[in-house]
Amino acid sequence: MKKLVILSGAGISAESGISTFRDSDGLWEKYPVMQVASIEGYEADPELVINFYNERRKQLLDVKPNQGHVLCAELEKYFDVTVVTQNVDNLHERAGSHKIIHLHGELTKVCSSYNPNNPRYIRELKPEEFEVKMGDKAGDGSQLRPFIVWFGEDVPRIGDAACEAEKADIFVIIGTSMNVYPAAGLLNYVSYNADVYLIDPKDVRINTDRKITHIKKGASEGMKELMRLIV
Ligand code: OAD
Repeated sequence: MKKLVILSGAGISAESGISTFRDSDGLWEKYPVMQVASIEGYEADPELVINFYNERRKQLLDVKPNQGHVLCAELEKYFDVTVVTQNVDNLHERAGSHKIIHLHGELTKVCSSYNPNNPRYIRELKPEEFEVKMGDKAGDGSQLRPFIVWFGEDVPRIGDAACEAEKADIFVIIGTSMNVYPAAGLLNYVSYNADVYLIDPKDVRINTDRKITHIKKGASEGMKELMRLIV
């Protein structure tokens, strides 16, 4: 079976009703990114940041995967698929994808403030626990924090993602502005023999000289078109 790697970003969840970050009316217009999504922001005002992610987490209860996520899962019938996502939502899982690497963490999980990547203290929240409060403690006694990779922090899963990208026969970039590294750099690991597709309704500036087939559509329609081209 051929290996297909998907690099997804906020745009794949837009049709489910989750805001992207950098489009007009995106999240970073309403909330200063360094305040709510950096380690410095968390240290300056943990409560504000915890509440910001409580809101994002609770939103998961109101949204559903869209056709874009569903077709990513359906590709598993034809290819050995790995989804590398920058998204912290759980819509790829809920659509049925099996191999998912969350580069920027997961909203449904919490961890230690002392050592966010210590697996002993990473815990999946049940829906009734989705509201984390100041004073809630991780197993090591530190404040429980969202299991999110913030600006200024390591991206522990980038190595796993790069190994997958290297093996890709087909690499699909969907719904990401390719602004954030190291995620955007994954394309550099993809073999020149691989076919690269981009699904995005807008032009995306990608720093490469290689051929990329741009399917200039939203996630659902774009994934349908991709299926027609490769299956
Ligand atoms: P961006 O908001 O930067 O980019 C979203 C992309 O999705 C843009 O290229 C849009 O054109 C595209 N888009 C919009 N609607 C779409 C649709 N219906 N179908 C397909 N594409 C659509 O989001 P990301 O690139 O994911 O990190 O952002 C990367 C990281 O920056 C995020 O993971 C987050 C953020 O800061 C952290 O918070 C650590």
